[in-house]
Amino acid sequence: MKFFADTAEIEDIKELAATGLLDGVTTNPSLIAKSGRDFMEVTKEICGITDGPVSAEVVALDHEGMMREAEVLRKIADNVCIKVPLTIDGLKTCKALTSDGTMVNVTLCFSANQALLAAKAGATFVSPFIGRHDDNGFDGMDLISDIRLIYDNYAFETEILAASIRHGVHVLQAAKIGADVMTAPPAVIKGLFKHVLTEKGIEGFLADWAKTGQSI
Ligand code: E4P
Repeated sequence: MKFFADTAEIEDIKELAATGLLDGVTTNPSLIAKSGRDFMEVTKEICGITDGPVSAEVVALDHEGMMREAEVLRKIADNVCIKVPLTIDGLKTCKALTSDGTMVNVTLCFSANQALLAAKAGATFVSPFIGRHDDNGFDGMDLISDIRLIYDNYAFETEILAASIRHGVHVLQAAKIGADVMTAPPAVIKGLFKHVLTEKGIEGFLADWAKTGQSI
């Protein structure tokens, strides 16, 4: 499973990249606003930290506008992945961009039928939003399972990017189902390293080691 960081915070991305476990980054207009940074500048900086795909989202709602914005965004770096919403214009843009060899992440996916359309449009990634799905009384994991089944039935190459991940259980469940990628806030990714018994174990070993009076 690939791990993407869902953030536009440079220090967090650097810290995760240093672990060697970061495969890419996703941003969205809300995350850019939260960073307080210039969209183009921060995206370029992120693209320099990771070699993996860096999703940058268009804000136009019409196909022509999306194509115009994508043209600007894809010049930032070779690893920019254009993020488009799951609408008719978004998928039209997805088809045009991927036919031309540009990576596209189709975002705001909330149904398996929408994911089927994204795959037919040649999306590189489709982003089903697990947390937001749960928030609205649906089961985000059922959505991931249904998309996995459909994509496997037809050998679609579009990667399932489990998004809107809120905690470690989401990561675990998405991995068990076979989502290709998950994107999560840095705090959630850092939380995956932690276990109370690991910390307790280290404490115990260090206490016993100190009693030996030895050093390595
Ligand atoms: C990622 O591509 C999405 O924009 C993101 O995961 C949305 O997460 P949220 O529902 O926590 O805002």
